[in-house]
Amino acid sequence: MTRTNNPTRRKFISNGLAASGALALGVFGGGFATARAARTRFREGLVDEDSESREITGPGSLKAHAGPRGLLVGAAVEAQLLTTNAAVEKIVTDQYSIMVAENSMKVGPMRPAPDKFSFEAGDALVAFGDAHGIKVRGHNLCWHAQLPTWFNSVATKDNAQQLLVDHIRTVAGHFKGKLQSWDVVNEAVQVSDGRPDGLRNGPWLKLLGPEFIPLAFRTAREADPNVLLTYNDYGIETDHPDDVKKRAAVLELVRGMKASNVPIDAVGIQSHIHAGWSTSDGNGLREFMRSIREMGLKIFVTEMDVNDDQIKSEDPAEIDLAVGKTYREYLDLMMQEPALAVVITWGVTDAHTWLGGGRRPNQTQQPRPPQRPLPFDAQNQPTEAFYAMRQSFDTRSV
Ligand code: XIL
Repeated sequence: MTRTNNPTRRKFISNGLAASGALALGVFGGGFATARAARTRFREGLVDEDSESREITGPGSLKAHAGPRGLLVGAAVEAQLLTTNAAVEKIVTDQYSIMVAENSMKVGPMRPAPDKFSFEAGDALVAFGDAHGIKVRGHNLCWHAQLPTWFNSVATKDNAQQLLVDHIRTVAGHFKGKLQSWDVVNEAVQVSDGRPDGLRNGPWLKLLGPEFIPLAFRTAREADPNVLLTYNDYGIETDHPDDVKKRAAVLELVRGMKASNVPIDAVGIQSHIHAGWSTSDGNGLREFMRSIREMGLKIFVTEMDVNDDQIKSEDPAEIDLAVGKTYREYLDLMMQEPALAVVITWGVTDAHTWLGGGRRPNQTQQPRPPQRPLPFDAQNQPTEAFYAMRQSFDTRSV
């Protein structure tokens, strides 16, 4: 998903950073002062313009800004982190109206052996949600990745249908009535696999053909009639040619499902984007969302984070600023879409982001400094992204 060759993106990054860096350095000099300058500018001027509140809880929380605009806001987290990390627990209870398990409800973790289901982590997340008024989203029932280790030796063309149906019946049945939505099928499109329908040549497709998708949705609907059923995918956010093609294939898939009355309620746009995303990247996404809405479906931002691998600077304040600007630009665009109902970031704080690897251009440091992709930093403090989210929510007309 790295877009090093996108000239628009490169230009946006260098312009944005040149401007912010110059201002910060001009006033305060380098090092620590630069970090403080950027943070102060951010809070008081650049992004949080009206600075209506420095308070980040209660009326200043993300959920207080999202709720009145008809949005749920949340993060991926594991139940285990909520009980062992008081700072994360506080952020989640202060800020969020929805959560999703980062891993524990996927098929692999959920299914340690063919005849064994592991519901503990999901149950704990639901119990925490009940105790604190936070909805829970299920992720996911059918995916090519994070399958159980036994999958390849056990699944055959003869038993795969039963396996998928049993899994969905048991898992969606177990959580019946307790979840806001389920990602029924995750990431089933991969245009580069070369099929005319754009579907990924993954394990479920190899075993069952494209029919695995309607089968999964129909089974989920039967198992939990009231939970929202979602198709979730990545690489559909920008106007890069790869994303343009993938959006078209996802749209085709969803259109086909609607045409054959396959139950689906929402499309999840994962939103793993890179710092430097700019509104010039938004036209295709806007159109895509309009088409989804016209089919009567909701849109969820399901896994947002902002990868800083394209940022040349190694100054954390400049990186935070670029990440914050990207949150603001991306979410401002999403806020204009009436069908948008959920915004979830993939992780609570930078201490637990799944993003790693990848070097920043011109980077000399070894190893690569940790990513800073989320609204809270590794010290559990709000980042520019936090304020950018809050401000974006405020732009939504209700
Ligand atoms: C990621 C988790 O964050 C990691 O901890 C895990 O090792 C791999 O999966 N798209 C998805 C998520 O739908 O399930 C992935 O989560 C990130 C990409």
